[in-house]
Amino acid sequence: MALYSDKVMEYFLHPKNIGVIEDADGVGEVGNAKCGDIMRMYLKINDDEIIEDVKFETFGCASAIASSSMATELIKGQPVDKALTLTNQAVAEALDGLPAYKMHCSVLAQEAIESAIEDYRKKKSQ
Ligand code: FES
Repeated sequence: MALYSDKVMEYFLHPKNIGVIEDADGVGEVGNAKCGDIMRMYLKINDDEIIEDVKFETFGCASAIASSSMATELIKGQPVDKALTLTNQAVAEALDGLPAYKMHCSVLAQEAIESAIEDYRKKKSQ
């Protein structure tokens, strides 16, 4: 069996939503202590708390790129509260699975979204 699913390869080779949102409403950056990789997530959120746009940048491995790209697809157009319920397992499932020792890479995507939403809420309450 191949190490990575076709979907992981597709999202790694042709990642969606990669880049920066200059006027983002929330920005989150997290790192993985295990591998030292970094993930940054940008969210554009409208007055109804719907995520209108999302982009990411990463110094991460193939699994991190594929996970983040899939995660951005899953939360785009969703309410902020729903995005907060996204788990790394759900991201991995949407990619038709990740090797067990690569699951921590998908955690990076989940945590970056949580961090960006936290940043958005902090800014909003100021
Ligand atoms: Fe670091 Fe995958 S090995 S994010």
